[in-house]
Parts: sequence; C-alpha cells; structure tokens
Amino acid sequence: MREETAGRERWPTKTEYADAVQDPRSAFAEPRLQEGVVEQGPLGMPLTSSGRNAVVFRLQGPDGLVAVRCMTREPAEGARRYGALARHLERSPCSVLTAAQWVPRGILVRGAWWPVVLMPWVPGGTLDTVVRRHLGTADALLHLAANWRVVVEQLRRSGVGHGDLQHGNVLVDDDLRLQLVDLDSVWVPGAGDWPRAESGHPDYQHPRQELRAKGFALDAFSASVIFLSVLAVASDRALWELHTQENLIFRADDFAHPGSTDVWRQLRDSPDRYVRALTEALAADCGRAAEHARGPEELLADVR
Ligand SMILES: Nc1ncnc2c1ncn2[C@@H]1O[C@H](COP(=O)(O)OP(=O)(O)O)[C@@H](O)[C@H]1O
Ligand SMILES: [Mg+2]
Repeated sequence: MREETAGRERWPTKTEYADAVQDPRSAFAEPRLQEGVVEQGPLGMPLTSSGRNAVVFRLQGPDGLVAVRCMTREPAEGARRYGALARHLERSPCSVLTAAQWVPRGILVRGAWWPVVLMPWVPGGTLDTVVRRHLGTADALLHLAANWRVVVEQLRRSGVGHGDLQHGNVLVDDDLRLQLVDLDSVWVPGAGDWPRAESGHPDYQHPRQELRAKGFALDAFSASVIFLSVLAVASDRALWELHTQENLIFRADDFAHPGSTDVWRQLRDSPDRYVRALTEALAADCGRAAEHARGPEELLADVR
C-alpha cells in the first residue's frame, strides 16, 4: 500500500505525472477519471497549472470538468487533513473553500499508486494575473478588494484556517468571484492538534509567524496583505512595479523592516487615505506578536 511507503521515496515529478495522464484508463483507478479526457494544450501536452508542490490537470469527466491535483512532495498528514476538512465542511459548509477529495489510490506512476486531490475545476485566473489584467481599472480592483473582504469573513466564520493565503491559491473568475484552492495547509477546528503543514508563502507571512497558530490567526495577516495590496494598486498602478512573479507588491523583507522599505514609502504617499491609514496599521502589526495580527475588518475598524 502506497501510504505506508509515502515519504521514504521520491514522489513523481510533474513530467512523470504529465506522461501518466496521457492515458487515463491506465493512469487512474477511479472509473470517473478513467473515462475522462485530459485537456491538451497546443503542443500535445496536457494543460497544467502548478505551484511549488503540485501539478494540476484539467480533466473532462462524465460529470463535468474536474481538477486532478498530483503532488510532487508529500503533503503533511494529507489523508487525515483532507478527510477532517471534508467532514467539517459537510456539517458547516464554506463555499469559498473548494471542495477537495483525497483519493489514496489516485494515479499510477512508476508502478506505484500515488494519492491525488480531486476537485471541481474552478474557472478563472490566479489573483496576480487578474490584478494585472485590471491595472488601470480602479473600479474593478475596488470590487475585487470588496469581494476579498467577503471571502475572508466567510473563512473566519467557518473556523477553518487556510494556512497559505497567497496569489497562487486565490482563483478569480470573470465576474471577480473568488475561490480558494490548495488546502494542503488547512487547520480544521476540532480535528485535534497537528503540526502546521508548512509555513505559507513567505511574501504573505508575518515576520514572526506562529507555527502553532490555529483558525483565523493563520490567515489574518496574509488576508490583510492581500486586501491592502489590491486596494493600493487600484489607486496607484505604479505600485505594480514591485510585483515579481512571486508576490503582489509586498515581499518578506518588507515585513521584516516595517515602515522602512520602498513599498511602505510608496504606500504612505497613496492618494487613497484608507490606503495610507491601513499601511500604518499593517506596519504596526508587523511589529507586534504574530498572534495579534489583524484581518482586514479589524484593520478597517481601526482606521475609520
Ligand atoms: N480546483 C482547481 N481548479 C482550477 N485550477 C486549480 C484548482 N486547484 C489548483 N488549481 C491551479 O493549480 C495551481 C497549483 O495548485 P495548488 O493546489 O496551489 O498547488 P501548489 O501546492 O503546488 O501551490 C493553482 O495556483 C491554480 O492555478
Ligand atoms: Mg498553491
């Protein structure tokens, strides 16, 4: 059984997964995947999206488009974490978290079965690409920031901590509706204590992040980073020059030096007074203990 050996050997590479999915009948054990058609790009290779830990294929199955997430590294407590999340969401649904099923006997590569995470395919682009597309359209970006507040409140009410809020894990459709993916780091209420999977994306984390954080405390700071970033770019598109492929406009180094790097200086000159006030509040949070970092609603309440 693959689960028993997980972690002791090299997990398949993105290329190995891409080769395997060319033939769904032999790659998958689940009939609904075996009957699926993996969507191909122009070069005859499967269309994929990927991040640091996984490659995601888009498969047209009998019941619609699904995302098949194949992991290139073992996620910490994957089976247990995804199981606990699914049970929690059955009792208290949270529509912004994309439903995800851990399938232990997922895909056959190098003669062994590897787990996959199955999800409905979420339409849209990652947050960074959508912000880029709307640069210069302040209304759209303000709308996006407002929708982000709603998402964060839904997440907070659900009690689930996402654990890795960052541009690549936020998908945005053409109507600027948002959906969270990549649930490898979630914290589920009542599911017992487990170590945090791994720290989230450094360009979104509090400089002294608390590895044992739970619930909304996992997400408050990164939620505020995203909120302020989108709001700020709405009123000053020049800020986008601070965007690399890895962030929105903040970098880990900015959080380590609150108030004294370029992004802080530029934000303090923002034409939007909310941006200026939120900037002070976020910089203050960088200097506090991570557990006291505030989410967008608390920051807004403070600056009104
Ligand atoms: N359910 C989904 N529907 C559509 N695209 C998805 C879905 N899940 C993930 N993706 C895409 O695949 C990329 C990588 O997936 P992710 O789960 O974030 O893996 P990683 O752990 O490598 O970051 C995401 O940034 C997103 O663009
Ligand atoms: Mg990701």
